[in-house]
Amino acid sequence: MKITNKDYYEQNVEKLLAKMSLTEKIGQLNQLETPKLDNLEEFKNKVREGKVGSILMSVGATAGNTEQGTIDVDFYNELQRIAVEESPCGIPMIFGRDVIHGHRTVFPIPLAMAASFNPELIEKAYSFIAKEASNESVHWTFTPMIDLCHDPRWGRIIEGPGEDPYVGAKFAEAVVKGVQGDDVSRKDKLLACAKHYVGYGASEGGRDYHRTEISDYSLFNNYLPAFRSAIKAGVKTVMSAFNDINGQPITSSKYYLTDILRNHLGFEGFVVSDYDAVCQLARQGVAESEADCCKMALNAGLDMDMHDSCYMDNLIKLVEDGIVDIGAVDDAIRHILRIKFQKGLFDNPYCQHTTIERSEHLKTAYEMACESMVLLKNDNQTLPIEKSQKIAVLGPFVHERRSLLGSWTIDGKAEETQTFFEELSSAVTGELRTSPFGEFGWNTTASTIEWADVIVLALGEEWSNTGESRCVSDITISAAQKELIKKAKASGKKVIGVFFCGRPIAMQGIAEDLDAVLYAWHCGSKTAAAACDILFGDIVPSGKLPVTIPRLATHIPLYYNVTSSGRPVNSYYGEHTGACYIDSVAAPYYPFGYGLSYTEFEYSKPSLSSKQISITDLKNGQKVKISVNVRNVGNYDAKETVQLYIHDPVATMMRPLRELKAFKKVFIPSGQSKTVEFEIGFEDLGYYLSNGKYIVEKGVIEILVGSDCLTNNEMLFNIL
Ligand code: BGC
Repeated sequence: MKITNKDYYEQNVEKLLAKMSLTEKIGQLNQLETPKLDNLEEFKNKVREGKVGSILMSVGATAGNTEQGTIDVDFYNELQRIAVEESPCGIPMIFGRDVIHGHRTVFPIPLAMAASFNPELIEKAYSFIAKEASNESVHWTFTPMIDLCHDPRWGRIIEGPGEDPYVGAKFAEAVVKGVQGDDVSRKDKLLACAKHYVGYGASEGGRDYHRTEISDYSLFNNYLPAFRSAIKAGVKTVMSAFNDINGQPITSSKYYLTDILRNHLGFEGFVVSDYDAVCQLARQGVAESEADCCKMALNAGLDMDMHDSCYMDNLIKLVEDGIVDIGAVDDAIRHILRIKFQKGLFDNPYCQHTTIERSEHLKTAYEMACESMVLLKNDNQTLPIEKSQKIAVLGPFVHERRSLLGSWTIDGKAEETQTFFEELSSAVTGELRTSPFGEFGWNTTASTIEWADVIVLALGEEWSNTGESRCVSDITISAAQKELIKKAKASGKKVIGVFFCGRPIAMQGIAEDLDAVLYAWHCGSKTAAAACDILFGDIVPSGKLPVTIPRLATHIPLYYNVTSSGRPVNSYYGEHTGACYIDSVAAPYYPFGYGLSYTEFEYSKPSLSSKQISITDLKNGQKVKISVNVRNVGNYDAKETVQLYIHDPVATMMRPLRELKAFKKVFIPSGQSKTVEFEIGFEDLGYYLSNGKYIVEKGVIEILVGSDCLTNNEMLFNIL
């Protein structure tokens, strides 16, 4: 009989389990963070005793916004040597790090990458990220972060793919494939970790770590699709979220961690808690003691305890006293050991560091940055601008390096990142001037504005305004930046705003005074080069918004896939009546899927392969083919993201007014056209009921194809 890898791993896991003492067993469930020098010996002893299953390669809870220092490969190899050679069963440790959107080469923040609508490029980016990080001892990255988010005040919106379940699912798949590849045991691959399971992005009021209320109907249709997709792509680990849903902390919820994650979604890897989340159960008010926290989390299905040692300190006694069943502990260990075998850690526990050639990585970071930036406004073809003009570049981000990299950048180097000014200087053939920003620079700013033919403003928010624990109550730019816009506008010259941001900024009162708006995000190592090349027309912008840009922060939550209330409250799709707000119009400033180009595209009516199909045929795998002709009627060769939405106008449950179901990014030379084809089938045309059952219902489906979610380019289709 053929022994498969799976059988081989199972046999090895069981052999090891049979040999392990209770202490070592619990040790496998224990993740500690990188020791500090003053507790190094104590830490090494823990490793020697088999009490450390994994190391979190960072220091402190919010690794994304504290200096972590560079990785010392020899140091980690030595700790690993102790685990392998000196611990009783010689089980290698697994080293995890928050390699979120880059290692040394920094790619755009994930929200910006989602704006590229280019999953192939995202996958490529993450394969390079894995290559760089694995070369520095990392086995496991805590990415993709796939928390759907409707609230841009939340600092962590930068880490995820935005407001849409479908974009989230595509992003999740691309990242998992890029990080893990076809064979995760390869030295240049990492284990991925889908996080934060689940609902963290719904933190009330956009306040980090806050409570959430999520109905099962919304859970299945909005919050789970990205996790379903990550699991389908083979993600090896999942991180449970800090938050509760409807009063149940995820960390102690058997419903979320076992019934849904394992039984419904079919996840087979291991679950790691978030940082100190096990002990946090007591503070969340569902456990009396640490021992209770430990018991509840383990019984819920949480395998590895990140950092707080709650399992290590309590589980032995709980098992010995018969309060926790050893069977539950063994199952958690099985989940972890299987992944250690799959990662090849038993065969190759050490990191053989080599010098990595990064030019291809940087090139891809540049392409990714170019495709992520979104042109939001371009009145009278203000952009692109001539390089030969007198250009003034002003604002707080003219000389900025670190912020361009974005939050959750642990290993990227600000000093290796070009500033916007440096990039512009090397591109212009005319003259470029700047002035110090703000209070002390207003006089020279006035004369620079006076001198210039065209004014470019480098605006936005600092990296440290975003990320974990970095929420804001207003999504705006500083008063001084607004003043700068007014001063520039008063000159009567063309004013271009380039926004280096991590989150959507409420644009009312800002964008009106600008002739052109380029949303450049925090796009990583190549932010400045990409923004500069877009301004001068060397690159034609092609990003589209994965998240709505509201007019005012007070309109939050504002997202495109809302249901119809039956009363006119929905400004998103043009119902500007007083029933919504009597003091403002809550239409998006820029809607989901929106983004301009330097060219223009004309869409034909979509045509369908058939006007109707039966549920049985759909179940049997038949698909509906939709094609649309897209013509580039402008003067630039360019890429367009063709988007397909559906709307089910009559269903058992209210369905969103638009749901993105497919997109394709296509290159169309000027004057030419392309027929873009989609196929949608059973898995696209239905939805989940609150009990997790997926249904497709009879009736009309509206199919809309266009360049953003407001498209009315529609065909009707019947499900029989
Ligand atoms: C964050 C996680 C992160 C972990 C380890 C937590 O505070 O929520 O996203 O992976 O720390 O740094």
